[in-house]
Amino acid sequence: MVPPLATSIQGILTDKLTGFINVNLMKKSEDLQSLSIFDNSTYFDELQMLKDGASWRPVNLIVFGVAVIQSGLTLIFMLSLLARYNWWIAIILFLVMIPQSLSYYRIQQQAFETMVTRSKNARKLDYLSSLLLDRKDAKEVRLFNMFPTVISRYINLFKDTRKDVDQIRVKQMYASSIFLALVVAVSGYGFYWFASSVSQRTIGAGALLMFISVIASVSSSLATIVEDSSLLYDSLLWVEKYNRFEKYHDDFKSGTKQVNGNVNQIQLVHVSFTYPFSKKEILHNINFEINKGEKIAIVGENGSGKSTLIKLLMRFYDPSSGEIKLNGKNLKDYDLKDYRDNLSATFQDYSRFKLSLLDNVSVFRKENMERVKVSLDKAGLNSFLKDKNISLQTILSKEFAGGVELSGGQWQKVALARGIYSDAQVEFLDEPTAAIDANSENEIYKNFLVENEGKTIVFVTHRLSAVKYADKILFLQNGKVQGFDSHKNLMKSNTDYHDMYNLQKEAYV
Ligand SMILES: Nc1ncnc2c1ncn2[C@@H]1O[C@H](COP(=O)(O)OP(=O)(O)OP(=O)(O)O)[C@@H](O)[C@H]1O
Ligand SMILES: [Mg+2]
Repeated sequence: MVPPLATSIQGILTDKLTGFINVNLMKKSEDLQSLSIFDNSTYFDELQMLKDGASWRPVNLIVFGVAVIQSGLTLIFMLSLLARYNWWIAIILFLVMIPQSLSYYRIQQQAFETMVTRSKNARKLDYLSSLLLDRKDAKEVRLFNMFPTVISRYINLFKDTRKDVDQIRVKQMYASSIFLALVVAVSGYGFYWFASSVSQRTIGAGALLMFISVIASVSSSLATIVEDSSLLYDSLLWVEKYNRFEKYHDDFKSGTKQVNGNVNQIQLVHVSFTYPFSKKEILHNINFEINKGEKIAIVGENGSGKSTLIKLLMRFYDPSSGEIKLNGKNLKDYDLKDYRDNLSATFQDYSRFKLSLLDNVSVFRKENMERVKVSLDKAGLNSFLKDKNISLQTILSKEFAGGVELSGGQWQKVALARGIYSDAQVEFLDEPTAAIDANSENEIYKNFLVENEGKTIVFVTHRLSAVKYADKILFLQNGKVQGFDSHKNLMKSNTDYHDMYNLQKEAYV
């Protein structure tokens, strides 16, 4: 092929394949609706390798595949030419290639496996460099002058990581010199044989010339075949990993039952839960139920399992034992997307999308400007809407042109507006006002809990002043339910709850 043409075809294929592989990786992520995969560090190692390879691996298949075929054809032609004069020199030359190729494949496989283990380090290396380069941690990195230590850690890890690869490179060098020596020996002998045949006049002088050119071309195509096929093999190993990832299924499946817009009752029956890839049980034998329209507060110390419980209720994980029932049927039987369509949430670690204000509120659902504005207003961002410098199109990140920077509390209000916008039947709020000032907080609780009679709302809070808005309080301690009742009843019947409440009250007196 004409080289510039080949280069542009290769370029186009590279782009197409890179796009194709990356889109497929993203689609695969959509298949995995449970969060369990994110608890598995091996997943990140594999993903790192797949992402790193997406831009050049597939094209290697084409480049090396074509090269191997081309050299293979040349080799067959040349060897058959040679065989016409002396078939066993042709066979020996060919045989020399076999152990060589095998050893190359082995080395290539080792190199590939080192790369897999390296991707662990590669992720650490990436993290260390982004720590110093990204905006996110810039303040603390500077305050604590983390530069020297992070840089030296980077250098050491980099050296360690290189060591294994260098060893493999040395092996590769030895293997190729042995190969070269063998080819030289066989060719030398061949040359001797031809030269003596010419001097004895059993073959003509032209044959010697032919032999020299054949040997040159045979040895170069042998080298290409051995090397390129081992690189091809390396890319095939990558493709195999990619295929395995594409076929990966966790045992988390969506059911088929439709919710039909009715979330009347959610019931937890003997639910215990241990996070995947972890040994410690976090929730122990939880039993309670939530009925349509109820406002349930979840309270308890840090680490008692409140956010975990919310994640189970939203089916980001399945219970390890026991079951969650929706309208009397196991939650697992329901169509997951349909179920989630009925839910809305403001998570403790809510997302701060570097997208426009509009996108941050509507998150690609049907856009209704009026409703976006009402949601922002309800979330306490009315002042924001009056600000001339901010429109719904403004990007909420300084990292992009024209973007603005929000305060911590403003971000939380945007996250709340997102929840309000969805107008779902069931709303989960995990410490929705942690960053919000007292005035706005009251306003928000009123908006959410008082003016939303039909909605079922489950909210986690550390501010016991908010529990007055709840019909019932779920009091969690170390993953166990210590009480599930109204505030009034709990104050009477539960001494731990009573003490906790009074402790907070006293702090304000
Ligand atoms: N993905 C995870 N894998 C393993 N353990 C986890 C995971 N996420 C949380 N945990 C553990 O589960 C326990 C409960 O965490 P959870 O986030 O539910 O607490 P919480 O009650 O919401 O606390 P907080 O008040 O601080 O928000 C903690 O001990 C935590 O270390
Ligand atoms: Mg939490």
